[in-house]
Amino acid sequence: MLEAPHRRPARFITFEGGEGVGKSTQVRRLLNNLSHYDIEAVRTREPGGTPKAEAIRAFILQGRSEPWGVGAEAVLFAAARHDHVTQLIAPNLAQGTWVISDRFADSTRAYQGLTGGVDDKLIDALETLALDGHTPDLTIILDMDPDVAFRRVEMRSIEDGLQATGDRFENEEIEFHRRLRQNFLDIARANPDRCVVITADQSEEELEAAIWSVITSRFPELNGRPLP
Ligand SMILES: Nc1ncnc2c1ncn2[C@@H]1O[C@H](COP(=O)(O)OP(=O)(O)O)[C@@H](O)[C@H]1O
Ligand SMILES: [Mg+2]
Repeated sequence: MLEAPHRRPARFITFEGGEGVGKSTQVRRLLNNLSHYDIEAVRTREPGGTPKAEAIRAFILQGRSEPWGVGAEAVLFAAARHDHVTQLIAPNLAQGTWVISDRFADSTRAYQGLTGGVDDKLIDALETLALDGHTPDLTIILDMDPDVAFRRVEMRSIEDGLQATGDRFENEEIEFHRRLRQNFLDIARANPDRCVVITADQSEEELEAAIWSVITSRFPELNGRPLP
């Protein structure tokens, strides 16, 4: 007799990649598709995800941690992630609920590689501490040219009736995002068992199907299940 999918171990899946590549869109679609097969899943995001982690996020974004330097900021991010893992991610997985996170630890590593100033060994140690053994089962890295991704974000602003932020196209900004893209690709290369890179420059539906194909081939409980 086939075991019901929700009786199998819960999976922890993260989505990573630059701004505008379609992470939030695909996280929503995946949750919807999982629910079709009676798989209970929660959606979360970083930075933040829990009230305490959101408080730390706000503290950093308001610039209040800046005088302490990038090392202290890295420690604060780790404290936020530790709360997210122990208060939300681990308890859900323990009760059989899948966790889908819109960004996670790889974002810290990718952005850290741009700002520099923090020793890789400290980043490694903080990641070990914050994850508390909860490495994602699968990380989907959505990859595309940042110029195209920016145009998507611009379209979103225009559709929402907001003024387009033209300065986003400034060369420095684009260069920053090109390096960010490369950092995510480097992370994927360093973690080939966990990470799958998917070309994000395709329609929402095509991308959804590509992601579903990765998920069903990776997790036996969904093997052979068509995209709902
Ligand atoms: N495959 C796609 N093709 C075109 N536009 C897309 C696609 N996926 C998402 N979008 C649109 O692009 C914008 C950014 O998508 P979003 O999912 O918010 O990206 P992210 O969370 O990675 O920043 C949104 O306006 C969204 O509707
Ligand atoms: Mg998003």
